[in-house]
Amino acid sequence: MTRAGSAGVFVAAGIALGLLFMPLHAAGEQRMDDDPTPVVGRRGFDHTVDANVRRLMNEGQDTFRHDTFGDEDFWGGTLRLHEAIEGAANGGVGPGVSPRTALGVGLKVDAEALPRGVKKQLRRGEIDLDDPATTLALLRADAVVGVKGVFGADGTLSSVGIQCALCHTTVDDTLAPGVGRRLDGWANRDLNVGAIVGLSPDLSSVATLLGVDEPTVRAVLASWGPGRFDAELFLDGRAFSPAGGSGATLIPPAFGLAGVNLHTWTGWGGVTYWNAFVANLEMHGKGTFVDARLADPAQFPVAAANGFDDVRSSPDLITPKLAALHFYQLALPAPVPPPGSFDATAAARGKQLFAGKAGCAGCHVPPLYTEPGWSLHTAEEIGIDDFQASRAPDRRYRTSPLAGVWTHEKGGFYHDGRFATLADVVRHYDRTFGLQLTDGDVTDLVEYLRSLPDD
Ligand code: HEC
Ligand code: HEC
Repeated sequence: MTRAGSAGVFVAAGIALGLLFMPLHAAGEQRMDDDPTPVVGRRGFDHTVDANVRRLMNEGQDTFRHDTFGDEDFWGGTLRLHEAIEGAANGGVGPGVSPRTALGVGLKVDAEALPRGVKKQLRRGEIDLDDPATTLALLRADAVVGVKGVFGADGTLSSVGIQCALCHTTVDDTLAPGVGRRLDGWANRDLNVGAIVGLSPDLSSVATLLGVDEPTVRAVLASWGPGRFDAELFLDGRAFSPAGGSGATLIPPAFGLAGVNLHTWTGWGGVTYWNAFVANLEMHGKGTFVDARLADPAQFPVAAANGFDDVRSSPDLITPKLAALHFYQLALPAPVPPPGSFDATAAARGKQLFAGKAGCAGCHVPPLYTEPGWSLHTAEEIGIDDFQASRAPDRRYRTSPLAGVWTHEKGGFYHDGRFATLADVVRHYDRTFGLQLTDGDVTDLVEYLRSLPDD
C-alpha cells in the first residue's frame, strides 16, 4: 500500500467515526448552550467545569466593564454629574464636558466601541473635540471607558453611572492618545477622580455625610490629583494626614492578583471582599455589604454613624455578580514588559540581589512578590509613617505584589506615591535596612523590578 493509500484509509475511517459520533456530540453541545446551570452533562463533569469557566469569564468581564450596579441614582440622581457633562447648551449646567476636557482628566475611549465612520474621522482629525455634544455621542456609543450614559426617550442624557473599568482600565492608545483597545486591570494613573467628582453641581450630600461645608469637599477633591482616590474618606473623614499630606492613595493595578491573599494597600481583605466593598460603599451601587469592623466609631466615625457595617438593598444588584467578577479579576495576568524596555543583563544581576544581599524576596516572595499567607507589616517595619495604615482594620501595610510594576510608574510608588521613582524606593530600603547597596546595585534592582513578571 502506498503512503497516500494508507492515509486515505485513515481519513475514511475518521469520517466514518466522526459520522457515528456526531449526533451524540451535537446533542451534548446543545444541552450546554441551552442550559447554563452546571449539571453533569453527557460529556462528563470536566465539560461542565469548562463551560462554567467560559460563563464566569464572560459574565465577569461584562460586569467589570459595563456594570454600574444601579449607581446611576448616586452619580446622576444625587450628584447630577450628567448635567455638568451635557452643559447648558444641551440642557444641563455650565460649559459641559468636551472630549478634550474628558481626555484631559484621564478618561479613556474604547476604540472598539466606536462606529467605523467615527474612527476614520478621528484618524483624520475631523472630530470636534471641543464640543460637549461629541462627548454625548461617545457616551451613546458606550465608548467612554468606565462611564455609562443613560439616555431618555427624547435622546437627552438623563443620568450617568460608573463602572469598575473607570479606575482599573486604561487603553493602548492605538488610535490616538487616550483612545484604543481596553487594557483591563491596568491602573488608570491619568484619571483625575477628584476633578471629575468636582464637576458635580451639587455636592451637598457628600458635605452632609462628612459633616463639613461644600467648599471644603471641593478643596479636598481638588487636592487628590491624577491617579488617586481616597477610599477611606467616606469611612473616617480623615482627608489629610497629621503632616498635611493628602489622604488619597494611588489607584493600584487590579491584575496579577491570583494567589495573593490580601488586597488594597492596607490589606482590607480578599479580592471579593474588596469588590463588594467598592461596589456598595464607593460606587454607591445597590447591594449587600456586611463588615462589623466598620461599626467602630473610634476608627471609622463616618461609617459607624451611617451604618456602613451593614448595608442592604432590595433588589440586590451586586451579590449575584460577585462570583464571576472575582473569577475574571483573578484571570487578569500581570502583563509582561515589552522587549527592550529594560536592560536584561542588569536585571539578571538585580534578580540575584533581590533574593540575596538586598533581602527583598523575604517579603516580596517570587513569583507572587508578596507573602503567601498573611502579607501585612507595620509602618515601622518598612520605615514609613502609619497614617494610611491606621485607617484600615489591621493598621498595617500590605506587601505590594510587584509583577507588572512597569505599567504604573506614573504617579510614583508606595500607597501615596511618596517615592517618585523605583530607584527612590530602593534607596529608601537601603537606608532603612542598612543594605549598603552601591549605585550599580540600585540600577540592577530597578532593572529587575521593571522586568517583572520574568517567569
Ligand atoms: C474611583 C476609582 C475606583 C473604582 C471605580 C474602583 N476602584 Fe478598585 N481601587 C481603587 C483604589 C484607589 C484602590 C486602593 C484602595 C486602598 O488601598 O485603600 C483600589 C483597590 C482595588 C483592588 C485591590 C488591588 C490590590 O492591589 O490588592 C481591587 C481588586 C479592586 N480595586 C477592584 C475593583 C473592582 C472590581 C471595582 C468595581 C466593582 C473597582 N475596583 C472600582 C479605585 C477604584
Ligand atoms: C519587610 C517586608 C518588605 C521588604 C523586606 C521589602 N518590601 Fe517592598 N514593600 C513592602 C510593603 C509593605 C510595601 C507597601 C508599602 C506601601 O503600601 O506604602 C512595599 C512596596 C514596595 C514597592 C512599591 C510597589 C508599588 O506598587 O508602589 C516596591 C517597588 C518594593 N516594595 C520593592 C522592594 C525592593 C526592591 C525591596 C528590597 C530592596 C523590598 N521591596 C523589600 C514590604 C517589604
